[in-house]
Amino acid sequence: MTVLDKLTYAGNPENIAGLPSDRVELVVGDICDSALVDRLVSEADAVVHFAAESHNDNSIADPSPFLETNVRGTYTLIEACRRHGVRYHHVSTDEVYGDLALGDPARFMILPI
Ligand SMILES: NC(=O)c1ccc[n+]([C@@H]2O[C@H](COP(=O)([O-])OP(=O)(O)OC[C@H]3O[C@@H](n4cnc5c(N)ncnc54)[C@H](O)[C@@H]3O)[C@@H](O)[C@H]2O)c1
Repeated sequence: MTVLDKLTYAGNPENIAGLPSDRVELVVGDICDSALVDRLVSEADAVVHFAAESHNDNSIADPSPFLETNVRGTYTLIEACRRHGVRYHHVSTDEVYGDLALGDPARFMILPI
């Protein structure tokens, strides 16, 4: 497994330090780097996209990293997966659905796959 991570203030290589080094490789890089992403995706069976600017309050002071990583970076990954026919899993958040009152008929549902 290859972990592509820019190691921003939110990243920490210690998070994967205990994983077997013969099976897990950390590549320090940016998901907006289309040449790097293209090479890594071409060697992958699947991509699971967790990389994000996730601390939303920071966008008030500077929205630029959010646009770069969350929009351009996601687009770069999806395009590389499309080019190479690689399966893509997107990690999002239930926050995209907004707030629901308890008992709202538009409640979240777990659908069988
Ligand atoms: N943590 C939660 O409770 C939670 C809940 C719901 C959804 N999510 C979603 O899961 C995803 C990951 O969340 P998290 O809590 O692990 O976020 P996090 O902020 O803790 O970690 C984000 C990781 O992405 C890396 N990163 C940032 N920009 C990058 C770039 N341009 N290129 C490569 N790597 C980059 C950072 O270095 C860090 O390792 C996000 O999409 C988030 O919305 C998280």
